[in-house]
Amino acid sequence: MAKKKYLCRVCNSELENIFDFGNMPIANNLISLKEQENNKDEYKYDMKIGVCLNCSSLQIVNVPKKELMFNNKYAYFASQSQHMKIHFGKLAKDLMSKMKKEEDYILEIGSNDGIFLKSFSENGFKHLGVDASENVVQAAQANGIKSICRFFDDKTADELLKSHGKAKIIVITNTMHHIENCQSVAKGVEKILRDDGTLIIEDPYLLDMYKIGSIEQVYAEHNFIWSLHSYKTLFEKFSINLYDVEHFETHGGSMRYFFSKQNIDPTNKMKKYIDLEINKKIFDINTFLNFRDNCNKICTELFEFILNKKNEGKSIAGYGATAKSATTLNFSKINNKMVDCIYDSTPFKIGKYTPGTHIEIRDANLFSNDNPDFTILFAWNHRSEIMKKEKEKNSKTTWVEYIPKLKLTDAN
Ligand code: TYD
Ligand code: ZN
Repeated sequence: MAKKKYLCRVCNSELENIFDFGNMPIANNLISLKEQENNKDEYKYDMKIGVCLNCSSLQIVNVPKKELMFNNKYAYFASQSQHMKIHFGKLAKDLMSKMKKEEDYILEIGSNDGIFLKSFSENGFKHLGVDASENVVQAAQANGIKSICRFFDDKTADELLKSHGKAKIIVITNTMHHIENCQSVAKGVEKILRDDGTLIIEDPYLLDMYKIGSIEQVYAEHNFIWSLHSYKTLFEKFSINLYDVEHFETHGGSMRYFFSKQNIDPTNKMKKYIDLEINKKIFDINTFLNFRDNCNKICTELFEFILNKKNEGKSIAGYGATAKSATTLNFSKINNKMVDCIYDSTPFKIGKYTPGTHIEIRDANLFSNDNPDFTILFAWNHRSEIMKKEKEKNSKTTWVEYIPKLKLTDAN
């Protein structure tokens, strides 16, 4: 039978299939104790990654229905990280200094628990958050942040235009890569953004992912990994132009993109990254294949390390029940016989089990008491914050990092 062809959701070119993961669970679908006891079958999807050599977008080719991923059981609460609070607090302060309180309104798409809009609400700025997951919206509302539970698309944009008018600023952080129908979002943004307005997007950056080999950042909820070239291709169709970028170390390397409907000259920084993407050969299939081989190596090394230590009778835990670790754990077939438990500070996650691999999630407060021999740092993107915190608590363990390669560090 002929292989099914998939088309790029950004530019319609045919995708190259680079990675087949097989059956994977939804990364944020944690299993409750009851479901675990009943051995209930979990929803699984056939996870395949394609790359577009025309616009340099990396994407999952057959994304599960969005309601299966974003619902009242969404496990990610952005405010769990102090570092992320500071990171978005700085952006909020900068934007507030440029906004006129009475006239300007800021819309955030994917507002989660209100981590970013909080200071707009506290300082009396007109704001609105839209998020598809009811539980995080409720958390934001409880903190006085105006938020509604909705998938943002072209239709929602029509409603919001009627109820709130046009926005001076639209912010979409760590969300655009969640959305399968990126065309509908871009169309919605085109309707709502003022002619003198700014669109700001931020999410994990393709070149960083290649550099560190973090294929685990791709899963159903993260169904795109974007680059300057792929964002330019998408938004130019809607007469929204990229003119500046800013790079951050967050989430293993993220890019912040600034767009406008006006024709602002691209900054030198943006030109530098455009050239860098070309020099790093993001339109060459070999770049993607090298990345795939590197990721396979990382998964194999981690699996073998755990297996060897387990056979030596050591206790092995994880730290950070991250969504991305679901990719590595399920793909590498690391299960609850190999990793005893994973520590996490998110109340919603504690007492539940990881999807597919059914590893127990324990309260991070117990970590300094349990002191496992080895702890795999699944929340590697919060490395400094977590290691510092546990050092202060005098926790004893050997940290195991696996991205970009296996590295052991004594906790003290
Ligand atoms: P996150 O970085 O959001 O990754 P993903 O998007 O892959 O889920 O997840 C970090 C996880 O680590 C989250 O579940 C909260 C947890 N965590 C702690 O338990 N303690 C900490 O100090 C920090 C910063 C995070
Ligand atoms: Zn494309």
